[in-house]
Amino acid sequence: MQREQKKFVDERPKSKALFERARKSLLAGVPMNWMVKWAGAFPPFVREAQGAHFFDVDGNRYIDFCLGDTGAMTGHSPFATVKAAEEQMRRGITLMLPGEDAIVVAEELQKRFNLPYWQFALTATDANRFSIRLARQITERRKILVFNWCYHGTVDETFITIQPDGSPGSRPGNIGAPVNPWVTTKVVEFNDVDALEAALHSKDVACVLAEPAMTNVGIVHPAPEYHKALREITRKHGTLLIMDETHTICAGPGGYTRAENLDPDVIVFGKAIGAGIPGAAYGFSQEVADRIVAKHELETCDVGGIGGTLAGNALSLAAMRATLTKVLTKEAFDRMIPLAERWTTGVAKAISDADLPWHVTRLGCRAEYMFGPEPRTGSEAHDAMDFELERFMHLYAMNRGILLTPFHNMALMSPQTENEDVDRHTKVFRDAVKELGG
Ligand SMILES: Cc1ncc(COP(=O)(O)O)c(C=O)c1O
Repeated sequence: MQREQKKFVDERPKSKALFERARKSLLAGVPMNWMVKWAGAFPPFVREAQGAHFFDVDGNRYIDFCLGDTGAMTGHSPFATVKAAEEQMRRGITLMLPGEDAIVVAEELQKRFNLPYWQFALTATDANRFSIRLARQITERRKILVFNWCYHGTVDETFITIQPDGSPGSRPGNIGAPVNPWVTTKVVEFNDVDALEAALHSKDVACVLAEPAMTNVGIVHPAPEYHKALREITRKHGTLLIMDETHTICAGPGGYTRAENLDPDVIVFGKAIGAGIPGAAYGFSQEVADRIVAKHELETCDVGGIGGTLAGNALSLAAMRATLTKVLTKEAFDRMIPLAERWTTGVAKAISDADLPWHVTRLGCRAEYMFGPEPRTGSEAHDAMDFELERFMHLYAMNRGILLTPFHNMALMSPQTENEDVDRHTKVFRDAVKELGG
């Protein structure tokens, strides 16, 4: 690790100088606090990115499997989105008035996700927050339910985990929590049908907010029939089901919902929807839409905690229209998913050749290795994490021109990722494992 730390610093004198300068004006030397988490002594400062690659200011080239933690799953600066955004920027960026792009995007989302009505926000966090508020309002219930070790953005209600003694409490690192999250939220393990039934039985839960497969504690797949049970139990108890497809859009053009024929009440989709230009969408079933409209109050609709000044702006919507119709298409997924298959096959072979108790898994064009057997719950996935080992693997990869997400060991394929990028990762992974004595 020391050798790799030194190599990282030695090969990035310009990033180092920028970081030293940045520490005098940016808190901890970074523009957003998560960026301190990169495995090197400082983050590489970026000169430019295009497609599946970027260069840092020292001229080092990287294959980007992080892709802005899904925001750039489209590849960096895809031509069609950039063209549409450039043209829109000359015609007005934000007006607080609609244009035709909003309808085209909503029509496209209807086709993809099979939900009739859509609204827009600037981030997936906001789309989740607004969906939760609406669910609370129409069900007249206070609580929500999430799965242990989920992540849905900076949504206060979701920062809850099951504590070692089995009680619910704040997840580690929950900054400035307004209340202990058990006041607002119930938490159960993913794939635990009995716990879900027990939690919803009291009929005080407005909504379940779920990723259809967990992606933020490593990938945790649903057990066979789990989604059937989740839908039946939520319906039985009058609890709405919100599917957060922000990451699981990697499963295909209509996300996991369409790939597996799910039937949620609400869907949230952010990050890559505008190729990284801020924007997110949330959609509702006819029944939910009718219930929302029945409670709508014209006089106070702008101060009720839903929406935002820049939400649904012309630039976001132009970017979403181009991204959905020209970039994140079925043809793109037909290219991306086999790349992820190639990635997992290569890593699986390296793991088995080294006889390690690790595993690698895949969800559409997203792949991930974990330092343990395949998890069935968030807890099992969390217990398999090893911060030191993770940092070593990430740093070793970065020093050889490969960027994984800074959180767990996740890789995304973009429409512009190539087989040779994947094979380069396989080689570097194999070499890292060898260095560890595997
Ligand atoms: C599943 C999921 N939902 C929502 C979000 C929040 O996205 P944003 O940070 O863009 O608001 C994230 C972020 O990682 C996410 O993984």
